[in-house]
Amino acid sequence: MNIAGKKILIAVTGGIAAYKIHFLIRDFIKKGAEVQVIMTPDSENFVTQLSLSTLSKRPVYSDFYGDNGTWNSHVEWALWADVMIIAPCTANTLAKMVHGICDNLVIATYMSAKCPVFIAPAMDLDMYQHPSTKQNLELAEDFGHIIIPAENGELASGLVGQGRMAEPETISEAIESFFTPNTGSLEGKTVLITAGPTYEAIDPVRFIGNHSSGKMGFSLAEEAAKRGAKVILVSGPSSQKPVHKNIELYRVVSAKEMLEKVFQFYKNTDMAIASAAVADYAPKEVAKEKIKKNDDSLTIELIKNPDILKTMGEQKTHQFLVGFALETQNEEENAKGKLEKKNLDMIILNSLRDEGAGFRNDTNKIKIFTKTDKKEFDLKSKTEVAKDIFNFIETQYLK
Ligand code: C5P
Repeated sequence: MNIAGKKILIAVTGGIAAYKIHFLIRDFIKKGAEVQVIMTPDSENFVTQLSLSTLSKRPVYSDFYGDNGTWNSHVEWALWADVMIIAPCTANTLAKMVHGICDNLVIATYMSAKCPVFIAPAMDLDMYQHPSTKQNLELAEDFGHIIIPAENGELASGLVGQGRMAEPETISEAIESFFTPNTGSLEGKTVLITAGPTYEAIDPVRFIGNHSSGKMGFSLAEEAAKRGAKVILVSGPSSQKPVHKNIELYRVVSAKEMLEKVFQFYKNTDMAIASAAVADYAPKEVAKEKIKKNDDSLTIELIKNPDILKTMGEQKTHQFLVGFALETQNEEENAKGKLEKKNLDMIILNSLRDEGAGFRNDTNKIKIFTKTDKKEFDLKSKTEVAKDIFNFIETQYLK
């Protein structure tokens, strides 16, 4: 993974998250990339040309016109860049980009660029959910741009929700993975990953679900793809989006749909990792109409869902099979029991007792078990955890 010598054009627009761009620039420069920053006039209310140019070691521009009748050539930067990143990308800049409203230096440069374009949106939660933003992000994706989705968390307004610009670390990883040649340790392998929760319908509007975010599975998919694998990612409802081009994503809703999709690919898979939090039970019958609140109590009969991983274990021919165990008691014993029962090669235990581990968090703390080995890891970001998992898998699988 190397971005040394790469020419990275960063366009900063007028959002509070602009301050984070300093960290991104510093990271790229440290890794040996060349960084040219341009900015919208409005972004100068948030960050200064001076701080950005000091870190990027190049002059920063926000205007077409320089001193003494000179012209700042947007065409030159657009053609110079190996990659362009618009971060933070405001709702306004996004709209101008996809509709060709070319009224500033950033948009003119963007419209002249022939290189891949990454967009890291940042805005308040309601703006992010607005149909115009959603449609504009879809249009940007149709143009072939890569969206680095906004994250959930506290926003500048004080509200909490999706809209925070992805952390510089995430943006940097997306760029690095883009430049990583497809010659890793998993070159030629197909890796099947399940992720996210499943939703089991009760009636047309309700379902049984869980708090899984899908982050662990998506991080595993990115890591496998970076190592050269072809990745089949089967995910239940999750707001995560894959970045790496070697990830084929299939979105499903229920456990039955997940099972069906998994077995479409399982036979020709070299390795399968089940990180999905599959609902163990589903309503026996799905009401055709919305259930009315007539009675004081309501009984819904549930029947067992298929155990996707167990079925993979039963039908294993050559696949290296990895499962997850989320336990609250007798953790190690239960995890090892599942390793045997589901015919796995490896199981990853995360305990709900560990703060920062498990559902919805950006971090996780894991223990890995095989039939003969055990390894314990510290609390880390899920991206780092995915690296640890594949480093460990490689000692078992590629030995
Ligand atoms: O038995 P338990 O649900 O604790 O096992 C967890 C592991 O099994 C996880 O890897 C999960 O993805 C997988 N699983 C599955 N299908 C189910 C239930 C769990 O693939 N119905």
